[in-house]
Amino acid sequence: MAHLALRNIEKRFGAVSVIHGISFDVEDGEFVVFVGPSGCGKSTLLRMICGLESVSSGDVEIDGQVMNSVPAARRGLAMVFQSYALYPHMTVYQNMAFGLENLATPQPEIERRVAEAARMLKLDAYLQRKPTALSGGQRQRVAIGRAIVREPRIFLFDEPLSNLDAELRVEMRSELSALHRRLGATSIYVTHDQTEAMTMADKIVVLRAGRVEQVGAPLALYNAPANKFVAGFIGSPRMNFFPATVMAMDAAGITLDVPGVGVLRALATGTQVGAAVSVGIRPEHIALAGTGDNDATGAVASVEQLGGLSYIRLAAPDLVVQAPGQTGLRPGDTATLHLPIPAIHVFDAEERALPKTAA
Ligand SMILES: Nc1ncnc2c1ncn2[C@@H]1O[C@H](COP(=O)(O)OP(=O)(O)OP(=O)(O)O)[C@@H](O)[C@H]1O
Ligand SMILES: [Mg+2]
Repeated sequence: MAHLALRNIEKRFGAVSVIHGISFDVEDGEFVVFVGPSGCGKSTLLRMICGLESVSSGDVEIDGQVMNSVPAARRGLAMVFQSYALYPHMTVYQNMAFGLENLATPQPEIERRVAEAARMLKLDAYLQRKPTALSGGQRQRVAIGRAIVREPRIFLFDEPLSNLDAELRVEMRSELSALHRRLGATSIYVTHDQTEAMTMADKIVVLRAGRVEQVGAPLALYNAPANKFVAGFIGSPRMNFFPATVMAMDAAGITLDVPGVGVLRALATGTQVGAAVSVGIRPEHIALAGTGDNDATGAVASVEQLGGLSYIRLAAPDLVVQAPGQTGLRPGDTATLHLPIPAIHVFDAEERALPKTAA
């Protein structure tokens, strides 16, 4: 168990700068998830924490000790990769034991740790098999087992479930969460999967082009994104955005002119009349029935029925509605929408979220 601190980390590959001054803390026992678009620096950051990659400037600290020049093998961390990286010629037992043998761990201790990890991961029956004789999920368990037996201070996971099919991902997701509850180990987990990020994380770090956009609990990011990027990145389907102009302000909020939508009220402050802003509303917060207040109408372009819920895409205004259950709407119909005032987010010209007034 360990506390990790990144202090103003920068990374350059030759002349190319990819990480531009990143700082945050991972508390002892915390499960932190990194999300962000492809190429934003998630893997590079993990590799710098782990010691597979040097930092160009700044400090990686574990329990208050600067790790920058400590070799990977001596940092006490273990990394699990998307590719599993198992040795094909070794059995499951040998794959799990290999790292410990390299550290000259006594044999009885190796056997004890492998047996315990195998029991935890339900791999007891497969210890003498080669990886080629295992399913994808079993292989990924071996990769996780190999990390567990090292009893690392911090677990690092780089998209460990992305090679698995949807059903297995869901199963492995809950197994990994259960494992974390049981071991209580500090963990950093990279994923592209919204559900994994929302359900597994104590804290999400949203990265964009080598910078931190926001750090917070999953629901804090969902409910109160700090800027338009985080608002668009957290949540699926993505938040709908519209350009708008502030028409009026009062103690309760603001009145917006939203071309193609109409006049909307929002619980925002800290702007001025005439300001150009963006309005955002999540597909799941739009209701398919007018109330006479903050309503809009639009032409249905397409409908996707998933049984338990429906996605309705409108052409004008261009937006997506996620409705519970099934819908009778068809392409060409006119839909009446309600955009609840508390569900409306407003972003300034620099894409920062405007503070909300009390409802
Ligand atoms: N060894 C390297 N030399 C030069 N550039 C590199 C090197 N490794 C990574 N990069 C660059 O650094 C940036 C961050 O890469 P990184 O692999 O960390 O992204 P990522 O967020 O993990 O992306 P993905 O979601 O696709 O895995 C990218 O622009 C990448 O091209
Ligand atoms: Mg990556």
